Amino acid sequence: MSVLWPLAAAVLAAAAAVRVLWPYAWAEAPVVWRVLFSAVRIAWWARRRPPTTMLELLVQRARRSPGKTLVVFEGRALSYGQLDADSSRLGRAVRAAAGLGPGDCAALLLPNGPLFLAAWFGLAKLGCAAAFLNTNSRRQALLHCLRCSGSRVLLTAADLWSSVEEVLPALRNDNVTVFVLDGECTAEGVENLKDKIQAASDQPLPLSLRSAVTFQSPFVYIFTSGTTGLPKAAIINHLRAHRMASFMTGCGLCSSDVLYTTLPLYHSSGSLLGICAAISVGATVVLRRKFSASQFWDDCRKYNVTVFQYIGELLRYLCNVPKRSNEQEHKVRIAVGNGARADVWKEFINRFGNIHICEFYGATEGNIGFMNYVGKIGAAGRINFISKRLLPFHLVKYDAELEAPVRDANGYCIEVATGEVGLLIAKITPKTPFTGYVRNEVLTEKKRLRDVFCKGDVYFNSGDLMMVDHDNFIYFQDRIGDTFRWKGENVATIEVADVFSTLDFVQNACVYGVTVPGHEGRIGMAAIQLHPGKDWDGERLYEHVVAHLPSYARPRFLRQQRAIETTGTFKYYKVTLVKEGFNPTTVQDSLFILDDEKRAYVPMDQEAYQSVINNLIRL
Ligand SMILES: *[C@@H]1O[C@H](CO)[C@@H](O)[C@H](O)[C@H]1NC(C)=O
Ligand SMILES: *[C@@H]1O[C@H](CO)[C@@H](O)[C@H](O)[C@H]1NC(C)=O
Repeated sequence: MSVLWPLAAAVLAAAAAVRVLWPYAWAEAPVVWRVLFSAVRIAWWARRRPPTTMLELLVQRARRSPGKTLVVFEGRALSYGQLDADSSRLGRAVRAAAGLGPGDCAALLLPNGPLFLAAWFGLAKLGCAAAFLNTNSRRQALLHCLRCSGSRVLLTAADLWSSVEEVLPALRNDNVTVFVLDGECTAEGVENLKDKIQAASDQPLPLSLRSAVTFQSPFVYIFTSGTTGLPKAAIINHLRAHRMASFMTGCGLCSSDVLYTTLPLYHSSGSLLGICAAISVGATVVLRRKFSASQFWDDCRKYNVTVFQYIGELLRYLCNVPKRSNEQEHKVRIAVGNGARADVWKEFINRFGNIHICEFYGATEGNIGFMNYVGKIGAAGRINFISKRLLPFHLVKYDAELEAPVRDANGYCIEVATGEVGLLIAKITPKTPFTGYVRNEVLTEKKRLRDVFCKGDVYFNSGDLMMVDHDNFIYFQDRIGDTFRWKGENVATIEVADVFSTLDFVQNACVYGVTVPGHEGRIGMAAIQLHPGKDWDGERLYEHVVAHLPSYARPRFLRQQRAIETTGTFKYYKVTLVKEGFNPTTVQDSLFILDDEKRAYVPMDQEAYQSVINNLIRL
């Protein structure tokens, strides 16, 4: 008895100490364990010869449990074994037809589906990298990305033929050969590979093709606007692919899970957090071509989905669907994604049941990421003693008008106090490298911030304003720079402005994003200055914008300005435009709204404005 009392007191004291020093111990301990386990596993994979890349994992799993379902797509199941065989077949056919070899890169313009996966892993089997093109890209944007990637080979599908056809002459000029992997498309210099793929052997491709592959070799190129300029290809090497996939395992994904992915595979969330995470634990992915709010829960029930991936908009769309009686009948336990806003988050949990929302923050090309594993509503992540050691980041004072960090008298950045908003920067070190953009040293350098706290130090400039509260939760506040996010896509303002500049009656265009109540992100808006003596033509503006820009990038509102500030105060000017927004009572200029029915930009009056604000017009 006398021994037990002190023991009990010691245990209680220890428990109390843990509660004070580590308030989220219960929620955190398993995550810390999983993250450490992943890190050790990745280090072990890196030491193997050849290194255990995502592809080698797929091949291993295919050998051990060939029948396990990897992907369910439109009701059809594709097993690990089948993807292994299909990718060998496709890789062999592409190698014979295009002469691709180790170290090359091929561009993929493919919709979500098994063909995307076979092409991706088929290329990996040849020791090649795959550049994922956004399937919404058209004309100049498509060509720009293709040129960035440096690929001489474009693999596409019959479904996306119209986008390819538009740029065929330019592709020929660039010496890019187009291969259609399914179906028949006839045009000069275009090769249909369907029959050759079917006829090819599905035996493993020689390992010698990838004998030079290391964890530093590029695996995929993913296009991102980052926060500066036109889209550019972020390099995802094999190590990064593993690290990104381990985000999902950190959230609790395991081999018995069924992961539901409706996000596009050309973004890192669909491909790396979705497919790669599933391969790394041996789980199953239910993949959809596109997100559908009305089908969502039916799919979850039909396929026994346990985890799904989201972007903020997706949760909101689900909350906007009329209530049904069976909406809490499902097996979903975790949702992983980013951009969930506090109001939608609360409503979502209230309506659809006790789903653990695992919100994270991270840029495709960045060297920093956060994860909110304790489900604190609205937070993008939690800082704990481990993340503080592993990811050396700071929030620094930022001048929105100068669009640069504030520097002190010695020229160094100034950290903000807890609870204050600052620019997120993360130290670039060998352990937290910034791999940069393909063939674009100028823009890569633009993302580096130098001489931050002392001479010679280098940080990655995330371009995001964040805030850390007193409980060590970190919150996303806003994105700076010349891009904005709409419907889960980054829009580069310069790319949209370029489209306007090719119209003969437009002299200047200033593009920016504005917020709309009840919507995530910012919708596109442009201030337009006409050439002297030319007239406004709402129909031609509409035609032009629709022909050249994907729907999410089209400015929804225009304002006609007599003069556009292009001097040194331009940034200040843009800040003012953003603030003024699109309310006809406060904006003195003529305002226009994109009208898909009338196929024109039409004048926007107070009534139209109210319909937008009250959610009566679908944006
Ligand atoms: C395409 O190939 C031709 C002939 O080999 C060459 O002259 C030309 O410079 C190439 N074009 C590009 C953009 O590489
Ligand atoms: C889903 O789970 C139920 C019950 O556990 C099972 O009967 C059914 O076959 C499963 N469906 C699929 C598609 O795995």
